[in-house]
Amino acid sequence: MAKLVGGMAVSHVPAIGRAIADQKQQDAYWKPFFDGVEPARAWLEEVRPDAAVVIYNDHGLNFFLDKMPTFAVGAAPQYRNADEGWGLPVLHPFAGDPALSWRLIDHLVGEEFDITTCQDMLVDHAFCIPMELFWPDGSPPPAVPVVVNTVQHPLPSALRCFKLGQAIGRAIEAWPEDKRVVVIATGGLSNQLDGERAGFINRAFDQLCLDKLVSDPDALTGYSTRDLVELSGSQGVEILMWIAMSAAMTGRRRRVHSHYHVPISNTAAAVLVIENEPGTNAVAA
Ligand code: DHB
Ligand code: FE
Repeated sequence: MAKLVGGMAVSHVPAIGRAIADQKQQDAYWKPFFDGVEPARAWLEEVRPDAAVVIYNDHGLNFFLDKMPTFAVGAAPQYRNADEGWGLPVLHPFAGDPALSWRLIDHLVGEEFDITTCQDMLVDHAFCIPMELFWPDGSPPPAVPVVVNTVQHPLPSALRCFKLGQAIGRAIEAWPEDKRVVVIATGGLSNQLDGERAGFINRAFDQLCLDKLVSDPDALTGYSTRDLVELSGSQGVEILMWIAMSAAMTGRRRRVHSHYHVPISNTAAAVLVIENEPGTNAVAA
């Protein structure tokens, strides 16, 4: 059977992609952030996943406001990137894993999630930049993109995203293949890109989230969408993907690494790595 090796999460600020393209990882502005990604890469070297389920939010490249699924799952053999207007180089297509996609889709529909199935799908900065950060050699494992609507209200609740994550974890571990799978979340932490509170960052709430994502992610399901916007900014709702990732862990969550750096662009940038150890989910790290 497949093994869920763990979960990872990282911010996806487009400027990170520009810094990678310009090889600015050692510049004073960027070094603290990129140094914080290194332990995540080292962990990946150890666990060597065969596939990645990437939970992220599309920002208008694949879905626009006229058609906005709450949850969507990719089922394509490959996923193309395209120009979003951020001035980033368009990346090579990413390999998909259709067998894992259909496993996930069958399982999620079986658990009564009404998802949109995408056999053709573009992936934006929120998918690509984390893949570049975690696999800078350009060879990430085949991936299954899972899109959560954090763009057009009403958004799925934190509780619904938690349940989605749990179902993803169960689906992976019920896959009768001898494969190692990692679940990745992208976005956050606190950030607001426009309006009166543009640049809003809430360190205390971010720290609480980084703690609870390992020790007790269930505790984060009590926040309403309105609470999340208030506490972490209008785009800080991207924490929903991190909650789903943590909830996917089927065993004991062990904190491998976390890193917090303020700011990158308008965002409190963070990295989190959780290993999915044998045991029960109730145990705190
Ligand atoms: C920024 C952050 C995001 O999550 C995003 O999707 C776009 C921009 C930023 O901080 O610049
Ligand atoms: Fe974003």
